[in-house]
Amino acid sequence: MNIQAFLSEKISVAMCAAGAPADSEPLVRQSAKVQFGDYQANGVMGAAKKMGIPPRQLAEKILEQLDITDIAEKVEIAGPGFINIFLSPAWVAQQAENALADAHLNVTKVEPKTIVIDYSSPNVAKQMHVGHLRSTIIGDASARTLSFLGHNVVRANHLGDWGTQFGMLIAFLEKKQNENAADMALSDLEMFYREAKKCYDEDEVFALRARNYVVKLQGGDEYCRTMWRKLVDITMQQNQETYKRLNVTLTEDDIMGESLYNPMLPGIVADLKAKGLAVESEGATVVFLDEYKNKEGEPMGVIIQKKDGGYLYTTTDIACAKYRHDELHADRVLYYIDSRQHQHLMQAWTIVRKAGYIPDSMTLEHHMFGMMLGKDGRPFKTRSGGTIRLTDLLDEAQERARNLILEKNPEMDEEELNNLARVVGIGAVKYADLSKNRTTDYIFDWDLMLSFEGNTAPYMQYAYTRVISIFKRADIDESTLTQPIALTESHEKLLALRLVQFDEVIMQVSREGTPHVMCAYLYDLAQTFSGFYENCPILSTKDEKVRQSRLKLARLTARTLKQGLDTLGIETVDRM
Ligand code: ARG
Repeated sequence: MNIQAFLSEKISVAMCAAGAPADSEPLVRQSAKVQFGDYQANGVMGAAKKMGIPPRQLAEKILEQLDITDIAEKVEIAGPGFINIFLSPAWVAQQAENALADAHLNVTKVEPKTIVIDYSSPNVAKQMHVGHLRSTIIGDASARTLSFLGHNVVRANHLGDWGTQFGMLIAFLEKKQNENAADMALSDLEMFYREAKKCYDEDEVFALRARNYVVKLQGGDEYCRTMWRKLVDITMQQNQETYKRLNVTLTEDDIMGESLYNPMLPGIVADLKAKGLAVESEGATVVFLDEYKNKEGEPMGVIIQKKDGGYLYTTTDIACAKYRHDELHADRVLYYIDSRQHQHLMQAWTIVRKAGYIPDSMTLEHHMFGMMLGKDGRPFKTRSGGTIRLTDLLDEAQERARNLILEKNPEMDEEELNNLARVVGIGAVKYADLSKNRTTDYIFDWDLMLSFEGNTAPYMQYAYTRVISIFKRADIDESTLTQPIALTESHEKLLALRLVQFDEVIMQVSREGTPHVMCAYLYDLAQTFSGFYENCPILSTKDEKVRQSRLKLARLTARTLKQGLDTLGIETVDRM
């Protein structure tokens, strides 16, 4: 049940019946203060202005038409013409009851769409860096959320597995194989790439061989293909391990790297030329876009094929968008890529639209994110200024979590301790990222993310175990709770209302790809539960009806917290 959508619909109908223009928006929102009710409609003023009548007069007319007596116990006109709605406890109780009875928490059914999510997308023979970490974590939360809602989600790991650098990489792999040191070299990809580059820059014979291999690889030469495959496989083996560790749902089957689009590129260039969009300019093939100006104020030229015949990152993204329409039949494509690539994407998509490769109904959305910064406010680096290896970062997270847990539970046995350290440590890193508005940079701070206070993974995971412990302590089986939910205390009603609002939150996250909205909601829910728990005794209550009703609310809280954390890819445990 999506209360906001439900009330919007009701008020919209009443507005029309009251004579407001058909396009009037009711603007129904959750009220910020209790005295304004649970929800308020803020659209009356705008509609009245269009009609040229006093807003309060229109509000009164709307109330005459509005039939929500079984939903609301009170509807008021406030201020210049706000409509405040006070939901009836019995109705809210019924919605909570429905959520509890449904495996999907009674979240509104959606019309299933095919949604492609482009995320993680590391590069072959290179270590994943922190930018890929953000894309991986946020993109996966989006994938989980949309799958939960029943959409057909296609995970697309746009691996950087093509380009001229592969000549150099193949030549270097060959060199290492001849020295019997290939396995060693590939175990540290960061080093591998750097050393390959060094050979290329310093050794003339090596560079020549490398350039020769590029041509051969593109021509489909078997030896070069095999060497290339090896590089891809080893990189992805290492990345898959990281995904597993991060509890990320990407598998080998989700790899749709740049090489996939390579065969399409000559056709794209020819087609853009035929359509008059691309022209020859100084030997290269260029699309000039009026939408973007260069420093001289002239249309910006986007190169799609270089003088030497090579294609570019943009050409690949043009082909890729087309492929996602033609082959994957996407309705929406979400790109989780850092904000520095925004202009690149906009240019590629402008060309895609101009060429008519995808229909207007298909959306391409750049769900961009900022950078991860160190405490000094500068890009997150090691003390010596190097890039931070993801595995090292995760090791440190687990180590720190382990020490914290050990401090609190010196008796915990080794196995449980290690598992908990993993769940809390990895959860903390992920949650720190997910809980910030992704569009801005954020500061990576160990102490904050591992704190048991505030909007953090440890707090949320602990809050979950506290709710679960109520059932454990009293050894209660959910199936024995037969009394209905009844909301008499204000803390009960508030908790039930928050629980039902899960629907609104998950819908917003699914539209905007903003997991921080889910984090903020879950944090609020955990705090609302605390308020309820302090004010409404559960197990010590003598009245069996009240006791069962409260247990049901606790049960629904546990399930909602778990489900919410699950859409974020944050694990929970029953005890900590
Ligand atoms: N491999 C790229 C990088 O490391 C990210 C690819 C993002 N996806 C895309 N369709 N361009 O920067």
